[in-house]
Amino acid sequence: MSLDIQKEKVKMSPIEKEVRRRRTFAIISHPDAGKTTLTERILHAAGAIQMAGHVRAKGERRRTRSDWLAIEQQRGISVATSAMTFSWHDYVFNLLDTPGHEDFSEDTYRTLTAVDCAIMVIDAAKGIEERTRKLFEICRLRDIPILTLINKMDRESEDCFDLLEEISSALALDVCPVTWPVGRGATFCGIYDISTKQWRLSKEIPEDDKRRQVALEEAEVAADILPSFDSKAFLEGSLSPVFFGSAIKDIGIEDLLMGLAEKAPFPKAQHAIEREVNAEEDKLTALVFRIQANMDPNHRDRMAFARICSGRLERGMKLTHVRLGKQFGLNAPQFFFAKDRQIAEEGYAGDVVGIPNRGNLRIGDTLTEGEVLHFTGVPSFAPEILRRIRIVDAMKAKKLRQGLKELGEEGVSQIFRPMDGSQALVGVVGTLQLDVMQARLAAEYKIEVTFEGTSFSEVRWVRGERTKLEDFFAMQRSSIAEDIDGDPVFLSSSAFMMERTIAANPDLEFLSIKRLQGAS
Ligand code: G4P
Repeated sequence: MSLDIQKEKVKMSPIEKEVRRRRTFAIISHPDAGKTTLTERILHAAGAIQMAGHVRAKGERRRTRSDWLAIEQQRGISVATSAMTFSWHDYVFNLLDTPGHEDFSEDTYRTLTAVDCAIMVIDAAKGIEERTRKLFEICRLRDIPILTLINKMDRESEDCFDLLEEISSALALDVCPVTWPVGRGATFCGIYDISTKQWRLSKEIPEDDKRRQVALEEAEVAADILPSFDSKAFLEGSLSPVFFGSAIKDIGIEDLLMGLAEKAPFPKAQHAIEREVNAEEDKLTALVFRIQANMDPNHRDRMAFARICSGRLERGMKLTHVRLGKQFGLNAPQFFFAKDRQIAEEGYAGDVVGIPNRGNLRIGDTLTEGEVLHFTGVPSFAPEILRRIRIVDAMKAKKLRQGLKELGEEGVSQIFRPMDGSQALVGVVGTLQLDVMQARLAAEYKIEVTFEGTSFSEVRWVRGERTKLEDFFAMQRSSIAEDIDGDPVFLSSSAFMMERTIAANPDLEFLSIKRLQGAS
């Protein structure tokens, strides 16, 4: 396999060379389609793990990096999001894991703001499933190019043409097969690479084997009736190259990786309020898109995951923490692998580094070499479920305040403090977030809480001229609260009441999405 990108790199600056060999991606799928198995295979191919099965050993149920939280193990779903950096041939990949469960869709959305492309894994027996469709829609909103893996070809599957047709019509997406399966189910034994006309078979099979003939004929028909690969359409997100394979049998996975290396985009420019920041600029800029606590149960630590947006990261750099207007020493930035972490001595745009910190970094923060920049990619969504939090032991109220603040900053849930001084409200997209919140408050802060219903069901961030806002707050005092940034929200008991309030206050803005750093 030749992946020589040296030639085209001759005239480039050192930073440009580094940027061009980076691919930052996520894997999206419906639960059980094979995301964990694929992750394992990819890490194995890249030599990041010794053997497949390492990421999530059976029996012992060791999980991937995404699966640290105890609650996740109990429920067998992926709650936390994580990043893994590894090299393959001449490329550096950053794989960001997204939670499989829909209750954590806000986390997923944030993670998808930090990738340049995605692999969509589809179970060959099931086709497009509900969660795949939702995740796909998020990618489409952000014009993220998508490669498709039709997985589990070693099992009974739908007809390949039907699958392609289903993807195309269900997602309004053009598809172009890059590889074609040889055999199906129990007789699946490899893939045929349509453009290079090469066979990659898991065992020797004769030239005149029926499976080869069928694959050739079908691949020819597919090439005739389906669009051919068009880089522009792919980068715009309107066409997806499709790979067939079996993650568990390790068939077709290297082809997928090669497709990612050759076809997926290198890190692109990122938008800040002030200007667009090009990945190849000299000065380092980075955006925190996720906070994760308790990665190592043995010592309570808090890791901010930042995507480098430009420049060159060096350990020990003194950066500017733009929100706080303070110096920030980058003493121990880390790269993560399957099981290990390692100090990041240097990094470039597209790389995701973990920055250990004591709570001064939060989602949406920008780090620079001095320039005042606010990256705009990471949004907060108005929660769909609101609960009032009740503490069992009233003596622990102060500790609860701290816990809520910290968990709110990590994005576990949103916290709203009513202006009338009543108990805090917790806002979530899915109820599992409440379970995580409750479990973590108990485990990490030794605080027992329960959640109660509230008369409020709708939240909007309110913005407007100061005097108009003050008048509004005075009138609506019992329905106004602050989020963890101190930004005001209006709470309402129904969508109807919300609409009425919005209509009655044309001078104010009521926002259902808050771009962090105030750039909505
Ligand atoms: P997920 O992360 O998307 O939820 O899926 P995961 O990789 O955990 O895979 C879900 C199930 O599908 C697992 O079986 C896994 O072994 C199986 N699987 C994944 N890829 C393939 C494939 O290419 N072919 C076949 N036949 N099976 C595949 P399980 O029985 O639920 O788990 P386990 O007992 O194997 O751990």
